[in-house]
Amino acid sequence: MPRWTAQEKEAYRTEIFQRLNTIMPLVMSQYSSIDWAEELKGYRTDHEYYPDYIHAPIHGVTDAYTNPQNCLGWDCGIDVILQKSHNVSCQQMRERMAELIPLDAQINTVLELGAGTASGALALARRFPQATFSITDISPYMLVISKYKFSKAGLVNRATFEQVDASDTGYPDNSFDLVTASLLFHEMPKEWTLKTLQEMYRITKPGGWVLYTDTYRGEYALNVSFPEPWLSDFVQFNFEYEFAKAGFTEIDYIRHSVGLWYIVGRKGLDGMPLS
Ligand SMILES: C[S@@+](CC[C@H](N)C(=O)[O-])C[C@H]1O[C@@H](n2cnc3c(N)ncnc32)[C@H](O)[C@@H]1O
Repeated sequence: MPRWTAQEKEAYRTEIFQRLNTIMPLVMSQYSSIDWAEELKGYRTDHEYYPDYIHAPIHGVTDAYTNPQNCLGWDCGIDVILQKSHNVSCQQMRERMAELIPLDAQINTVLELGAGTASGALALARRFPQATFSITDISPYMLVISKYKFSKAGLVNRATFEQVDASDTGYPDNSFDLVTASLLFHEMPKEWTLKTLQEMYRITKPGGWVLYTDTYRGEYALNVSFPEPWLSDFVQFNFEYEFAKAGFTEIDYIRHSVGLWYIVGRKGLDGMPLS
């Protein structure tokens, strides 16, 4: 993969923001019926609640996920970036991820951590129509948008929307058949990633599944075009090794398209490998 020049990176950023500026008025009108004051009741919105790293200028935007506008911009931003950088739409990426869990897996309870606007959970909800979903994020604004999207899809009765820190969820041990997250670890300092992996293992049921996707590895990391404050932690992280160290087994690392990768794994029975 050729390394981009500074000018190419700047042109890429400009194009993304131009596309975003075009799409945003439409997005704002789609979500204009949300009564934010009502929907935010019961969630914490004070800045002290968030871990310090959330306030770093992720993508050059300070306090990235701590207001409605930035969170409403997420879906179209990520769709534009995925199409431009990875040759997939957001929906294709979520569907391909969901397909990594076999249809005959016993998936009745799913937890998504750092769910953002829950596009990943929506794809899983369609693939596993019997499953119930715990949609979680530290940002209450993301949870409000997720709930709105689940309502629009007629799936809201199958989900809860909880403000949860991925590294310390408070769920009992062995709670979920599938624990999933996406695009989370490249935005966290590595100590948080390590704690979150341990937490994912703890709350996955024996025999259950873990599913993760992210970007910015290997050569692709050279073409990062947006400020990503925790990128150096992320690119040094050996994810296959760290998922295994957290306890997961049967780990499959799948490279997909340009710079996009998935990890799928299992929690063994009584700490033992499944096969
Ligand atoms: C880059 S967005 C990804 C959103 C979503 N997973 C997706 O794939 O579209 C990162 C998300 O992680 C959330 N987040 C960051 N740190 C978190 C933490 N410690 N616990 C829970 N959520 C967190 C942010 O609020 C944001 O919604």
